[in-house]
Amino acid sequence: MRSIFTGLAATALVMTMAGAALAGEGGDAAKGKKVFTRCKACHTIDEGGADRIGPNLHGVIGRTAGTKEGFKFSDAMIQHGEDGLVWNDETLHTYLEKPAAMVPGTMMSFPGLKKEKDRDNVIAYIESESGAE
Ligand code: HEC
Repeated sequence: MRSIFTGLAATALVMTMAGAALAGEGGDAAKGKKVFTRCKACHTIDEGGADRIGPNLHGVIGRTAGTKEGFKFSDAMIQHGEDGLVWNDETLHTYLEKPAAMVPGTMMSFPGLKKEKDRDNVIAYIESESGAE
């Protein structure tokens, strides 16, 4: 029992570290939480949270675009996923700067986060919320 538990704890630690590395570039999750208020009208972030206008974003980092179960994505987003788009630090930066430029035809009617720092911080927040279960 003890060894299984230790193993799980170690796995969780490695995942947390991988998460920190992914968030990278000095993103500040606490500041990101404030930025996320701009996403909240359409997205929840808690585990098992409801889909609103947009899909629940828990664990979105590492997920293939347009594959969140139970949410009806645009054909454009599904197509991007089929073409290999996976959400990570880099792809989220590009998408969140100007969603419609990266995924023309996306249903996400959000102009984008112009400031790189806002994007860094909100990505760090998404990452920290996804890891904290
Ligand atoms: C006006 C509503 C709205 C707002 C505001 C909004 N989104 Fe979205 N978001 C959506 C919709 C709708 C989709 C699904 C897009 C599609 O299928 O084309 C989406 C998709 C996404 C995806 C891709 C999810 C996946 O599983 O492929 C991410 C990541 C995302 N949004 C992050 C954000 C973040 C971060 C913010 C705030 C900075 C934000 N969104 C603000 C509506 C919104």
